[in-house]
Amino acid sequence: MKKPSPLVEITGTGRFLPDDIVTNDDLAEHLDTSDEWIQTRTGIRERRIAPPDMGAAYMGAAAARKAMEQAGVEPGEVDVIILATATPDRWLPSTACDTQALLGCSNAVAFDVIAACTGFIYAMSVAECYVAAGRAEVALVIATEKMSSIVDWEDRSTSVLFGDGAGAVVLRPANGSARGILSSHLGSNGDLADLLYRPGGGSAVPLSQQVLDEKSHLIRMEGREVFKHAVRCMADSCHVALQNAGLTVDDVQLLIPHQANIRIIAATAKYAGLPMEKVFVNVNRYGNMSSATVPVALDEADEEGLITPGSNVLTVAFGSGLTWGAMALRW
Ligand code: COA
Repeated sequence: MKKPSPLVEITGTGRFLPDDIVTNDDLAEHLDTSDEWIQTRTGIRERRIAPPDMGAAYMGAAAARKAMEQAGVEPGEVDVIILATATPDRWLPSTACDTQALLGCSNAVAFDVIAACTGFIYAMSVAECYVAAGRAEVALVIATEKMSSIVDWEDRSTSVLFGDGAGAVVLRPANGSARGILSSHLGSNGDLADLLYRPGGGSAVPLSQQVLDEKSHLIRMEGREVFKHAVRCMADSCHVALQNAGLTVDDVQLLIPHQANIRIIAATAKYAGLPMEKVFVNVNRYGNMSSATVPVALDEADEEGLITPGSNVLTVAFGSGLTWGAMALRW
């Protein structure tokens, strides 16, 4: 198979994590849980929690500034901002527009993509189309999540899993460079929406006292079912993205999977055919930051020198929707 040449390159990455660290022991002070249970079942040791007055737009803008600085891009040069979030600052306007205002990217068109934990891969594939089609010279992709604002802190089966943070990348035309997006694969299955969702507070069940009393505006999840689908969908998606890139697992230097649970990560790597030495893991430090996990990991992997120019990097994610997707990159 002919190997595709990248049309779109990543020229900068950035991340932002709130300062406040909440450990498992901190959670065990007011929840019927333990550090031992959480670490054994999820691999999570601690997570970052944003202060009450810090929203997704603030965190996204902070990550984006770092990505823009690395890419040498001024705010006025950004043509499009595509922002993934499951935790918008407010329902109107989009968090992308709020972030645009914080960044001063006054020449950009800005909009949100909602695909839960797969949001970054979805947003990247939309941005790739914009840049490849010549509709944008500079695209800013941001994934930012304040998961602490949508979990029920009295529900031990969900609250221990999530954390807050943001990641961002700058995309530009590859212009003949061998580096960039090699392929992607996306999937969704709305029939399984109720496995991981927020039942109330939207237009179908508007916010009411009953919604608040039942806490139906917060995350509900069938953990075991989600686990099974996550592993299968992510492993399958890895195979398709690699095939579309004309690569095999042996060509991959680093797998960057969505960081939800170390057991999901290990099972996905196993079914995808990659040893754990080639898998990036930071779920122990941050928990599940939904769409932000992959760009935060990408930025850390780059900073730590785990990926260098020429490395083949496979990213993969899974989330509510259900949604899933993988993207093969040449660094
Ligand atoms: N501390 C202590 N015990 C807990 C607990 C916690 N934080 N959360 C659940 N438990 C208990 C349950 O109540 C249950 O007790 P019971 O047997 O007395 O009923 C027991 O632990 C086992 O629960 P179960 O849900 O079967 O555990 P599990 O091994 O499936 O692990 C998850 C639970 C949530 C960690 C796991 O299902 C998972 O990771 N699922 C995927 C979740 C996810 O990552 N979602 C986002 C995807 S994007």
